[in-house]
Parts: sequence; structure tokens; C-alpha cells
Amino acid sequence: MRHCDSELHVSGRSEYVDDVAPPANLLHAAIFGSPVAHGIIRSLDTSKALEVPGVIAAFTFDDIPGEGYIGQIVADEPLFADKKVVFHNQPIAMIIANSHEAARKGTLACSTKIEELPAITCPREAFKQGEILQELRVFEKGDVDSIWDSCDHVITGKVDLGGQEHMYLETNRCRAVPMEDGQIKVFSSTQSPSATQKTIASVLGIPMNKVEVDVKRLGGGFGGKEDQATQWACMAALAARSLNKPVQIVLNRVDDMQMTGKRHPYKQDFKIGLTKEGKILAFEVDHYQNSGAFMDLSNPVLERTCLHSTNSYAIENVRIRAVPCRTNLPSNTAYRGFGGPQGMFPLEAAIAEAAKELCVERDWLQSQNIAQGGYTFHYGQNLEDNRLKQTWDQAVADFDLEGLRSRTKEYNDTHTMSKKGFALMPVCFGISFTKTFLNQGSSLVHVYTDGTVNVTTGGIEMGQGISSNMIAICSRIFGINHERIRCNSTNTSRIANISPSAASATSDLNGNATIIACREILSGMKKVVAKELKCDASEISIKDGQVYCGENATELDWNTLVLKSYFSRVQLMAHGFYAPPNISFDPIKGWGRPFHYYTYGTCLVEATVDCLRGTYSIDAAKVVHDLGRGIIPTVDLGQVEGGLAQGIGWVTLEELKYADDGRLLSFALSNYKCPDGDFLPDDLEVKFLENVDNPGGPLGSKAVGEPPFMYGIAAYFAIRNAIDSFSSTNEDEIKCPMTPEQTLHLLYPNFEYD
Ligand code: MTE
Ligand code: HPA
Ligand code: MOS
Repeated sequence: MRHCDSELHVSGRSEYVDDVAPPANLLHAAIFGSPVAHGIIRSLDTSKALEVPGVIAAFTFDDIPGEGYIGQIVADEPLFADKKVVFHNQPIAMIIANSHEAARKGTLACSTKIEELPAITCPREAFKQGEILQELRVFEKGDVDSIWDSCDHVITGKVDLGGQEHMYLETNRCRAVPMEDGQIKVFSSTQSPSATQKTIASVLGIPMNKVEVDVKRLGGGFGGKEDQATQWACMAALAARSLNKPVQIVLNRVDDMQMTGKRHPYKQDFKIGLTKEGKILAFEVDHYQNSGAFMDLSNPVLERTCLHSTNSYAIENVRIRAVPCRTNLPSNTAYRGFGGPQGMFPLEAAIAEAAKELCVERDWLQSQNIAQGGYTFHYGQNLEDNRLKQTWDQAVADFDLEGLRSRTKEYNDTHTMSKKGFALMPVCFGISFTKTFLNQGSSLVHVYTDGTVNVTTGGIEMGQGISSNMIAICSRIFGINHERIRCNSTNTSRIANISPSAASATSDLNGNATIIACREILSGMKKVVAKELKCDASEISIKDGQVYCGENATELDWNTLVLKSYFSRVQLMAHGFYAPPNISFDPIKGWGRPFHYYTYGTCLVEATVDCLRGTYSIDAAKVVHDLGRGIIPTVDLGQVEGGLAQGIGWVTLEELKYADDGRLLSFALSNYKCPDGDFLPDDLEVKFLENVDNPGGPLGSKAVGEPPFMYGIAAYFAIRNAIDSFSSTNEDEIKCPMTPEQTLHLLYPNFEYD
């Protein structure tokens, strides 16, 4: 089986929100955003917009009938600016017109007078000024303070870690359609249909049962639509309800890039202490998170940063301090890895610095400190097996690390202006929402009398292949061909209280729920045949659509079984609910067993740097990944390769630039560079651990969505490794991404500019 949307996608027939035939009288919304990043609104005039041909209405904060402030963790974000603006292009007003173009023209006719205030874009500066969204959090293990003296080497450093634009192909969009009796139906490109439903109800001041949110699929979310698809849906719903007409909002690329948050940039300080034998005795890190203007998901993102600050390494003395800092940028938000990558980077940087000081290879130092089964993380959870180390050992062996080491040395000895480097990156990523209550999944399975099946779950298809996974699971449990099964849109009227499709856990949670639902239907069906065949229901099974009693095929096939069940008045639909057992986490104490299990892997990246031009190529990326028993191999492979590509982009080309006044300068595809197919290595190899199970995942599988992102970090250190063979620098602050500009700077640290 392959991704069930693949044919629709490549032929352009898959439908997204605005591809569905528009209802009559569809109106269009466009947003007037703040011209400055910080200031007090002295006046606002939308009257000129109303004179633009085609413009029908304008909405501002004062037009909101219910709650004007939204937010899942803290409702601190006004839907439209309320008396002040706190980031450039913050929505101030919404213009409704009979065409998208007229609505956009309307926004150009809006005007506002704003008393400008200084903008803060740096989290260290925000912290200094007391601009924090939440008190500093501290995670501790052992006693770092008393151990520094017994270390042979203590190294400190600073990191300036960049953010990242989500760059989903489909920008944010929503269509809201008013229905009878004040109800509203919303088609949104969101990862969080229930949060969208709840927030629309609150903004409109109506009960949740009057709001139906339907999501067929997303053209990518990557975390960017976990929380930040909501506001656009609320706006469309607000206009639709007030005007009693269907309203659609589609952000263009530049608006989407300027108005929505991104991966959180961080500033970090680290301190690492080691013995001369290379054992890490202590690690300390301070995280200053650039949270943007409002809370959004900054709190749980920061929490995961803290949990993953020691990544895959066993360290007995650890102190992690972290604070979300309020800046004049759109609220930064979830992005594949959810703070995990930002947690892991400083330790990898610290290990790189330590390797230089100890005059050892970076990968040797890593291997000396990889955590093994039995290790307890600083938040109380144990590593329960040795598969992390297994992926490392297999990568070292299968990818011939020693051969690569000698080939690289030989190349660097014989080339003066071109250098090669490589780096390994182990990843140990916890699977579960750290907010334990979110770990729940639901599935509704319908078997129709012609033997076809429909499955609806709380999971959102955003390209990651959850629809295909749900179909594959039904197919395996029922014992029928996947072509008989369809996966429906995700809909709040069919499934209630849906957790966001996030934390890589969506297939796990909803897949396990689907198994429960399928089994319930099957058990009723089996009773029907057992009676007829005069055998025990436990002897009945279905393989390839044929009913078996023990080892023997019977005359019955699936379709007959379905019909017999129907005529026997046996239920052919069921709802399954699943919540993983044995997880809990106390966020105040920072202690517990937050994760159902871990997904592991190790990645090797090779790079070549052109030491004259500062350009580089990523030559190879090779991964050993623990997938448990994968559900659909091509879908899983797509997730590993896609995550890796995004991770490589984050640490190399993708650079968010802000002007001092808080304006985003990299606001389009022409000034923000994403990696493309050509940039990615030709030599891309992904191996999966063989014969491994995972009792926690459906059919023995492991969550795969986010962990591969962090493999990309190897690309940074591979390039850095190549640079180190050309020049030796000790920069004050380790800067990521390693753009060609940054590479050139590191190659010639003492270059004198006249
Ligand atoms: N893959 C595609 N093609 N598109 C996406 O938007 N999102 C990623 C990952 N893979 C994403 C993707 C993120 S951030 C997460 S959390 C997971 O998919 C969510 O899906 P899952 O929980 O089913 O793995
Ligand atoms: N991961 C992703 N999304 C989330 C999480 C998480 O741990 N917690 C809340 N939303
Ligand atoms: Mo993914 S960042 O948890 O949507």
C-alpha cells in the first residue's frame, strides 16, 4: 500500500479548503495589519475601505460579540489589535468584499495613527527588561555546582539559534458557512479542529454544539497550524455570522509569513564539564526563548526544550534553566520537534567545543556518553532499552565510519581550498504530549452493507499519511483489502474533543482507537458466524477477505459476513477510544514519566566546503532509525526523509532576518531560502532497525513524524567539521544557521575589511 492521496496529489485533484466548489454569494476577507511592530493605536479609519468597489464590511476588535481574546494556554491574544499593537502586521482590521482582490484593495485604503514604541526582537534584551511570559523554569539532576572543580575540562559558550518558517505549501485558509438556526460550519486548514471549534464558539459567544469544524486535509502544517490556524477561522466565522453569508479567507504567502509565528529562535548559554577520559560530568544550559508577543504554545515548547536538553546522553549532573521572553514578533509556535531541536543543539555545540579542547574526535566523545538502558533522565523517566545505542553502533558499522574518517583525512590533506567534514547525530525523542491529558484518540468505524468501510478519527491528514495509516490498520485488523476502505474528513460533529494532530502521536493515539473500534465490530461479526459454523468465535479469523475457522478456509467471504451480521442485527459501526496508560508528568516539579516511549535513531552527514567561496554541499545523509514495526514502509520513509530535509534546512540555509524595528525582512520565497531537491544529498540512505517491536504503538509501530527532523543537526556540525580543517576560530557566539555567509566568515575570521 502507498499513501492513499498520492494519485490525487500528483494529478492535482486533491481538494483543499478553497478548491471545493464555492457556495453562492461567497465573500472574501483580507487583513489590514499593523504598519509598526510596537505602539499605541491613536486612531483607526476603515471608512475609505468601504468606498472601494466590492467592499462590503469592515471588522475590528470592537465588532467581536463574544470573547475578544484567544489562546489555548493563556487567552492573551486579541483577535484584532486592542488599543495597542505588539508586532509588525498584527491584524488590526478585516475587510470583507465580493472578491479577494477587492478585499485586498480595501485593506490598502485603511489607515491608522500609531504612537510608536521601541520594539524588542532579542530574547536576552526582553529578559533584561523583565519582559517574560512566565517565571524561569529550572530542571536539576545531581549537583552541578559541586562538580565543576572535579572536572578536568570546563568549557562555556553561547549559542544564537535561529527560527524557521513553516513554509507549508498551503497557506492558512478557512471557509465559514452560516447554517440554519445560528449554526456555523467551518472548513479550516487546521491541526486542531476542536480548539478551532471552541475558540470560534467563544469569539461568537455561542455554544460549541452550534459550530462544526471539518478538515479534509492540509497542504502541510508542520506545527504551524496547531495553534495559528485558529485566528483565521475565527475571523471568517465572525464575518460569516454577522453578514449571514459564507466567507472565505486565504492568506497570500507574504501575509502568512509576516502574520504567523515560526519555530522559536533561542539564545543560550552553556557550560560543560568533562574528565580527561571524555566522560561528561556536568552540563548546564540557560535557554532564553524568543516567544514573540503572546503565549501561544511557548510554554509546552519550552518544556520540551528542557526535557530534551540532554538529548541522547547520560549525564549525572544537569541544570537547565529556561524562560519564555516576550518580544515584538508574531507569537512563535509549534514546529516539528516542538522545542526538542532547540533543546538538543546547545549540547551538540558543547560537545563540538569540548572535542576541540580535548583534541579528540567529536563522534568519539558522543559515543563515550550515549545513554544506555537503565539511565534516568533529569525529569525522572528511565531509558528502558538499548535500542538508541543499537542505532548508533549500527550506523558506525554499516556506514563505515572509520573508512570515512580516513578518506576525509586523505582528502583534506591533499586539497587546500576544499575541505570535507562529517558528523553524527543521535536522537532520542519522547513520544506523547507533555500535557498528559492531550494523549487521547478516538475513531469511528463504519462497515456498510456492501462490505466497504469508512473510518473517521481525530487525526488530521497533513501529508504525513495518517489517513493511509488508518486505512492500513483497518485493513490489517479486518483482514480485508485496503481498497475497500476510505478515510473520512476529520469532523467535530463525528468526533468530540479532538486533541491537536501533533507531538508525532496522532497515528499512535487514533490508530490504537481504530484497532479498538474494529475489534468491537469484528467480535459481533464473529459471533454470528461461530453460531452458523458451530465453532467457537475465537477460532474465526479473516484473511484476504475470506473467513477462516482455525486453519481452514470456509465458504464465507467478508461481504457475506457483513450481510449476515446486518440481518442478524449486529452493529456494524463502533467508536473506539484510546488513552495510553502509565504516563504522567508534574509540570511544577518537572518530574514524572511524560513519554509513552522514545523514538531513536542515529544520522551521519557528510559535507564539502568550498573554502574560497564559502559555499558547501551536503554529500551524504545516512540514517539508522528505530521504527518498531512500520505500518506502511513508503509513508514512513517519506517522513524520515522529509523531516531530515527540514532539519538540514533549519541549520543551513533558512535564515529569518528581522530589522531592528521588528519588521521581518525575509518575508517571501525570494528572500528566504528553503532547501530544494537539488540541495539535498544524492546519497541518502535510510535503514530501519530490523525485528524490533513496540508494544505501545499500533501494530507494533513507533511514531515517526518529528524525530527525524533532529538528524538535520548533523549537517551543521559536518560543515563546521570541514571548516575546522581550514581555519581555527573560536567565535564568541555559535551561530546557527550555517549559511554560506556564516561559513565564509568562519573560514576567514580575521579578514580585514577596509
Ligand atoms: N509531514 C507532512 N508531510 N506534513 C506535515 O505537516 N507535520 C509534522 C510531521 N510530519 C507534517 C509531517 C509534525 S510537526 C508532526 S507533529 C507530525 O507529522 C504529526 O503527525 P503524526 O502525529 O501523525 O506523526
Ligand atoms: N507536542 C506537540 N504539541 C503539543 C505538545 C507537545 O508536547 N503539548 C501541547 N501541544
Ligand atoms: Mo508537530 S510540531 O507537534 O505539530
